[in-house]
Amino acid sequence: MTGRHNNSLILPRARRGESLATMETVSSESGEFRYMKAIPTGDVCTGCHGTQIAAPLANALKERYPADRATGFVAGDLRGAFSVRIAADGL
Ligand code: HEC
Repeated sequence: MTGRHNNSLILPRARRGESLATMETVSSESGEFRYMKAIPTGDVCTGCHGTQIAAPLANALKERYPADRATGFVAGDLRGAFSVRIAADGL
């Protein structure tokens, strides 16, 4: 995933109040077809990515994903994006 590219396409739109649930973009650049869709944080996600993670779960996450930094999100936050790039000459 190309983080900087995603941020420049999605973050300004999120700041203007566009719904993350339907936010997507399609473009053709540098010989590539590109598609991206925002991933909103839902209530179900905050159990692991939220601000208050239940102790047994927090311990399991720490043990299995010691490098995890994906916490502190609240419902409605931009959680990430699906990004697909396909070489246009293959289409
Ligand atoms: C049961 C715990 C759990 C729940 C619930 C959960 N996640 Fe995750 N998520 C994880 C873990 C653990 C990782 C890290 C996986 C890894 O490092 O391989 C992760 C990774 C991710 C990543 C990629 C890494 C990053 O932080 O950018 C995204 C995006 C993501 N989750 C989004 C979501 C969304 C959206 C939801 C709700 C629809 C959700 N997750 C619900 C545990 C969870």
